[in-house]
Amino acid sequence: MYEARVLSGMRPTGSLHLGHYHGVLKNWARLQAEYTCLFFVADWHALTTDYEAPGEIPKNTWDMVIDWLAAGIDPNQAILFIQSQVIEHAELHLLLSMMAPLGWLERVPTYKDQQEKLSNKDLSTYGFLGYPLLQSADILIYRAKYVPVGEDQVPHVEFTREIARRFNHLYGREPGFEEKAKAAVKKMGSKKARLLNDLRKKFLEQGEAEALGRAQALLDEQQNLSRGDRERLYGWLEGTGKKILVEPDVLLTEASKMPGLDGQKMSKSYGNTIALREDPAEVARKIKTMPTDPARVKRSDRGTPEKCPVWSLHLVYSDEAKKKWAHEGCTTAGIGCLECKQPVIEAIQAELAPIRERAQAYLDDPTLVKNIVADGCEKAKKLAEETMRDVREAMGLTYT
Ligand code: TRP
Ligand code: SF4
Repeated sequence: MYEARVLSGMRPTGSLHLGHYHGVLKNWARLQAEYTCLFFVADWHALTTDYEAPGEIPKNTWDMVIDWLAAGIDPNQAILFIQSQVIEHAELHLLLSMMAPLGWLERVPTYKDQQEKLSNKDLSTYGFLGYPLLQSADILIYRAKYVPVGEDQVPHVEFTREIARRFNHLYGREPGFEEKAKAAVKKMGSKKARLLNDLRKKFLEQGEAEALGRAQALLDEQQNLSRGDRERLYGWLEGTGKKILVEPDVLLTEASKMPGLDGQKMSKSYGNTIALREDPAEVARKIKTMPTDPARVKRSDRGTPEKCPVWSLHLVYSDEAKKKWAHEGCTTAGIGCLECKQPVIEAIQAELAPIRERAQAYLDDPTLVKNIVADGCEKAKKLAEETMRDVREAMGLTYT
């Protein structure tokens, strides 16, 4: 089976918190069992906004990778690497910049939004305008089929699809394309070749999208096709040229339901987080000092759980019986707030204990992390080089 690749990146923000864990990392851990996953630290992307003070980036990178590993991202299943250590990303970014229309970049909604939001920084730079294009290079260089990201990143993946389409349109017209495609179909054996031809006709002549889907699935199952032939046939099925770059799809990551200590979304900028490597005493302290329903001034005052951020945590961590206990206890003043918080403290401690333990092993021996990342960079580089060979050839940049 031709393996679909999944790719995602994170800017190096340093230590991660429970919001990242429930939102992103558990999702990555699920995906790694099912697909060939590539997860990387987008350190160049961090430079687009922090170019004046890049000093924190390396430490933030290592802290973040340790948290990935501690949270269950498994280097035996997924490829973990650092963007700047696979320099082919920069070459693809440069080559794509030749054909990326300026207007497309200026119209990416995050461009103006972020410039306004981060108005304390001068972001009228070439690098910042190119942010989505660098992201396109990250994705396209691995021919990733799926990109798990949150809502805010959807425009960047859309942009990437358009760049891939434009690239394939400009450079996918190799001489003798039809003949090469037909020769590739033959390699599938006469029965499958006939089926593929029929499905292609149904799509091209009658516009049956389902036929295209079935034809693509047929290609995915075919073992004996070279990558080049596969790209040709993908394009041929749709009546276009060779598909050198793959148009990726978003795998939308549901917004994290993890509430912060104040009931707002958990986020570093709100200062309401519990870090994955938070000290147990600090975890307990943070929850014990959490605000509760302001109506419960005295122990005998009844409360409304829906007005209390601790209740939001029960919704994440407690089973039905516990939730019932807390809800009833609150509305009848049967329990006090500290009592109500206790099961939440215990649940978070239980969740964090194994994470903290795994992180400690990496903190004790940083070479473990370095080796994992070096190995991941090497694997990623191999895949990136394959694509770059095809890209250079398609753009006429081969001199040997
Ligand atoms: N821009 C993404 C973010 O801010 C990070 C990122 C960079 C990324 N390159 C990527 C995400 C490629 C997915 C795929 O979160
Ligand atoms: Fe919040 Fe629980 Fe106190 Fe009710 S009893 S206000 S839900 S902490």
